[in-house]
Amino acid sequence: MQNPTLATTLFAILLLVHSSLALKEGQTCVADRNCDSGLHCETCVANGNVRPRCTRIQPINPTSKVKGLPFNRYSWLTTHNSFAILGQKPMAGSVILAPTNQQDSITSQLNNGVRGLMLDMYDFQNDVWLCHSFGGQCYNYTAFQPAINVLKEILVFLEANPSEIVTIFIEDYVTSPKGLTKVFDAAGLRKYWFPVSRMPKNGGNWPTIDDMIKKNQRLIVFTSKASKESSEGIAYEWRYLVENQYGNGGMKVGSCPNRAESPSMNTTSRSLVLVNFFRDLPDVTKSCKDNSSPLLDTVNTCYGAAGKRWPNFIAVDFYKRSDGAGALEALDVANGHLVCGCENIATCKANMTFGACEVPEAEATPPAAAGDTSFGVGNCKQVDLLWCFATTVFGAMLVAL
Ligand SMILES: *[C@@H]1O[C@H](CO)[C@@H](O)[C@H](O)[C@H]1NC(C)=O
Ligand SMILES: *[C@@H]1O[C@H](CO)[C@@H](O)[C@H](O)[C@H]1NC(C)=O
Ligand SMILES: *[C@@H]1O[C@H](CO)[C@@H](O)[C@H](O)[C@H]1NC(C)=O
Repeated sequence: MQNPTLATTLFAILLLVHSSLALKEGQTCVADRNCDSGLHCETCVANGNVRPRCTRIQPINPTSKVKGLPFNRYSWLTTHNSFAILGQKPMAGSVILAPTNQQDSITSQLNNGVRGLMLDMYDFQNDVWLCHSFGGQCYNYTAFQPAINVLKEILVFLEANPSEIVTIFIEDYVTSPKGLTKVFDAAGLRKYWFPVSRMPKNGGNWPTIDDMIKKNQRLIVFTSKASKESSEGIAYEWRYLVENQYGNGGMKVGSCPNRAESPSMNTTSRSLVLVNFFRDLPDVTKSCKDNSSPLLDTVNTCYGAAGKRWPNFIAVDFYKRSDGAGALEALDVANGHLVCGCENIATCKANMTFGACEVPEAEATPPAAAGDTSFGVGNCKQVDLLWCFATTVFGAMLVAL
């Protein structure tokens, strides 16, 4: 078959026929809607993977396996600069010249299982804005949107999901009197506030998530400004958490230094551990590679540096991008160790004894190996043979053209 239009048409028809059967992880796709829920369709050209395939965009919810552990016994997907979204409509009257770090709205992030949000807050236009700026000053061309918009999205999520807990990390440039207090109150988030008084001060366990849910204290807020803990009751981040270097300095293989503001990673008087893994300048193309094995390597390195502690938060750019399972996989690994003492949360069983892991069953659709650009029968282990045959033929045609 030498006619590319015919080939494409046939493929489109097959896809249409097939659309009643949503594609599984690793299967060749054309658009997001072809894939099962919790997956999207993408390539990872930065890693040599040009075959668009269905890849995961949601971690396994660790509380679906084991409920009721202390909050610090879980790991949560965290987005760096959660508000700096590709294609965001400018709201400050000027085009936005600041770089972007994520692809979807806060609501979409939360619905995909993101539970940590990193928000940069500034005084701007007599209000608090989410801004990406320099010198502590927000400009109309670096301003994304008023913070209250995003805080209201979080409110809607917390109301609709009564057993979910969200953590906000504020990079805090707000100097207006009680500026943060006012905007959180105005958004209606006060009723979910987790009080500083209940945060462990000397490396102890956090309250259990059951308890946090029962008391409806489901919003944890950290600020980067130490003084706001006593003045406004907003927890000073590095009194409760250690964190590795962000940006390029945190991406060196085999090292996990703390960021300047954080105590060293092995400081066990801080009960929470956060791992950052993103570039100085966000790069949507390379993020799929960064979020894959390099991220997992750093999570492992930081486990050692943090005194054999798995991260409670894993913060990345473009969290949905991966060359397989990416940040979601890193989360599942951390949660496996934290929640049940297994290599991956997927092998944790409800109410199991910690560490009593079973060997995972052979998966029906093993994710394609990194660097696999072929359309060979290697993909044909799926139950769906017709589909597999079609994608193989289509692949062969593409190669032949
Ligand atoms: C952006 O701010 C500058 C300085 O305040 C102002 O001169 C300019 O008119 C603003 N641009 C827009 C499009 O509002
Ligand atoms: C903790 O980490 C620092 C480096 O950040 C190191 O100098 C120190 O020896 C470590 N302490 C322990 C007890 O391992
Ligand atoms: C796990 O334990 C809880 C409380 O003991 C119980 O209600 C629940 O049914 C158990 N779940 C399973 C899957 O055994």
